[in-house]
Amino acid sequence: MNKRPRVTVVGSFNTDLVSRTPRMPVPGETILGGPFHMGPGGKGANQAVAAARLGADVTMVVKLGQDIFGDQAEANMIKEGIRPGFIFRSAETHTGAALIMLDAQGENMIVVAAGANNLLSPEDVDKAEEAIRQADVLLVQLEIPQETVARAIQMARESGVKVLLNPAPGRELSGELLGMVDVLTPNETETQIVSGLPVTDLKEAQIAARQLLDRGVGAVVVTLGAQGALVVTPAGVEHVPGLQVDVVDTTGAGDAFSGALAVALAEGMELAQAVALANAAAALQVTKIGTASAMPYRDDVDKLMAD
Ligand code: RIB
Repeated sequence: MNKRPRVTVVGSFNTDLVSRTPRMPVPGETILGGPFHMGPGGKGANQAVAAARLGADVTMVVKLGQDIFGDQAEANMIKEGIRPGFIFRSAETHTGAALIMLDAQGENMIVVAAGANNLLSPEDVDKAEEAIRQADVLLVQLEIPQETVARAIQMARESGVKVLLNPAPGRELSGELLGMVDVLTPNETETQIVSGLPVTDLKEAQIAARQLLDRGVGAVVVTLGAQGALVVTPAGVEHVPGLQVDVVDTTGAGDAFSGALAVALAEGMELAQAVALANAAAALQVTKIGTASAMPYRDDVDKLMAD
């Protein structure tokens, strides 16, 4: 019998085209950068790979184009052990692509050409109904249409499946949608966008998170980069510190965090303990270049936590 925790991800795939650069260009400027790197990415697929590498039985609901990037994406998901039943393909547009500039400090700027991600529809979600209703955790982000996100969340809620929403890229969300989310994982910028309140320090982050609780979210976990995460629930606030590592590339750190949190919650861990595991996964992810390819494996995360 398969006892691995089941995580279903409804989300995006992008081929990441990464250019290293000594600094970011300003508008109208061309600069000579460093090495180029291409690999699988997209917030949905990154989180699916993170969850699979950490030991979950992962199903991904995603839409790709019928092009070479789509072929590579599908092959990579299968290689990572992700169940392939709901990898849809469309001839109408291209596979999602992300143009990423990565500076010497490991910080990034990203433009996403969403392509087929924009065509992932509520009807596609309906086709994956069983995989959503039988999951332990549904994991969603905001790189696909909002009505698709809403359909998946509603389905999961009806079946008592825990809903984890990583609200990235940040968008305003309806109270109806927020009221169906068990755990929300925004970074500070996304906390500001989703709540509509200013977030310039930890105190304001707490105020904004409490407003999101008032609007129906079960728990808000504000990710703070190297500082770890702030866990805000109706029971109170807890700061779970991050782990100090040598940062090479921060791209995908939030995805490592949300993917790991989904696995830990699917395993039944309580929230603060699950956040500690997610912090460790994110810390390992930023020590490597790349997004999906840099996701850590469970043994390495467990070892880091034990140290
Ligand atoms: O979160 C990182 C991801 O954002 C990248 O992989 C890129 O594809 C964009 O979706």
